[in-house]
Amino acid sequence: MSPSPRSSDASAKPARELWGTRWGFVMAAVGSAVGLGNMWRFSYIAAEGGGAAFLFMYIIMIALLGIPLMLCELTVGRKTQLSPIGALRGLGGRAWVPLGMLFVLTGFLILSYYSVIAGWTLRFAAESITVGFPENPGAHFGEISAGLSAVVWHLAFMALTIGIVMVGVQKGIERAALILMPSLVLIVLGLAIWAAFLDGAGEGYAFYLLPDMGQLMDPTVIRQATAQAFFSLSLGMGAMLTFASYLSKDTDLNQEAVTISFADFGVAFLAGLVVFPVVFALGLQGDVSASTVGALFISLPGAFADMGGIGRLVGFLFFLALSVGAVTSAISLLEVVTSSIIDETGMGRRNAAIGMGILIALFGLLSAFNTDVLGLVDAIAGDLFLVIGALAMSIFVGWAMKADPVEELRRGAGKRFYSLIPFVVVLIRFVLPPVIAVILFFALQDTWGAITGFFAG
Ligand code: PFF
Repeated sequence: MSPSPRSSDASAKPARELWGTRWGFVMAAVGSAVGLGNMWRFSYIAAEGGGAAFLFMYIIMIALLGIPLMLCELTVGRKTQLSPIGALRGLGGRAWVPLGMLFVLTGFLILSYYSVIAGWTLRFAAESITVGFPENPGAHFGEISAGLSAVVWHLAFMALTIGIVMVGVQKGIERAALILMPSLVLIVLGLAIWAAFLDGAGEGYAFYLLPDMGQLMDPTVIRQATAQAFFSLSLGMGAMLTFASYLSKDTDLNQEAVTISFADFGVAFLAGLVVFPVVFALGLQGDVSASTVGALFISLPGAFADMGGIGRLVGFLFFLALSVGAVTSAISLLEVVTSSIIDETGMGRRNAAIGMGILIALFGLLSAFNTDVLGLVDAIAGDLFLVIGALAMSIFVGWAMKADPVEELRRGAGKRFYSLIPFVVVLIRFVLPPVIAVILFFALQDTWGAITGFFAG
């Protein structure tokens, strides 16, 4: 049941492709949100941030900042049916074009290193079948994380991503998400049930779910919970905006924003129910928060190796799920860049996806050869640019755009949300900008520290 494509606001351009079904859009957006962030970043940040104390702050930040911000992106995308640069120009004038460009740059940078990490993930999934997990995971990770072998898997992952985006919104992105996302949820659910029967499960749960109250009001925890919410929900770089540009105008954005956020949180939470019991069953708790990049890629393979045959199967499923999440997120990162090139230059989708994909893959070689570069690009794009993008987006929708946000959000809204919308707009106008500005202040300090640290060697 594919609705006939309708023409975009710029009527001279060819008709814009739309999602085939509502469910297709939701799965693609959940696919964007659920990714390495849910299983890799989430676990170590939760471990550092006092377990349930972090979880509690995380849920608050999703409700208070994440959902309103997602609504900002969804409204602008649906209203203009254009990718970020054109959308911001259309609703805000030329002054907002640089923000669109920042979104494209952020997508470019994040994908360049995301693909390197996804390459490690693919490699672990493949090797769990062919050779099993390494006996000495630390040394193994040292060998595979940077250099020629990292390059090969990075390029393979980029080729896969380009292949899907090139095909188009319905036949490529939507179809991939409709198959991959339900599979991912089933695998993670199955793993969580299996993990419940491990010896260390109780201890793992206690660490994960009992709050360390001392950390509840710790500014670092609050800041990390916010940054993680943006990264995990794919906010602050126009990904949700771009996906919403393929929506028909009668969609209930409020319902979709709640569904997407809930699903994203659900998968992260479930992944924690796998990671912590496994880690505690093997007494590896020190490792999880010890290193940011390596945590999951050292301690978990080590645990799977210790478990023998069953470890191989479980490990395969775990890294398969992680790879699936990475692919559907990478698609959305490349789509932001690709759709902007298509809309701004009139280039065909195929050429735009291949051309930009190759440029991103080439830039990613820097991260594939050196994990310090990877960490630096993550600190700049993943931590700082997303926060700048989020701040600017809330100001844009709350104060600058040439449309009434209440009216826009009410279009297509079901009864349940209709009366809540003015309240959400108050949040967007008065709460989001100052709160995100404070977060930005700290993010600047952190990123500056990462930059000086990088150059000091
Ligand atoms: N949300 C993805 C994850 O959690 O892994 C990462 C991501 C995808 C961030 C797309 C930003 C984005 F636009």
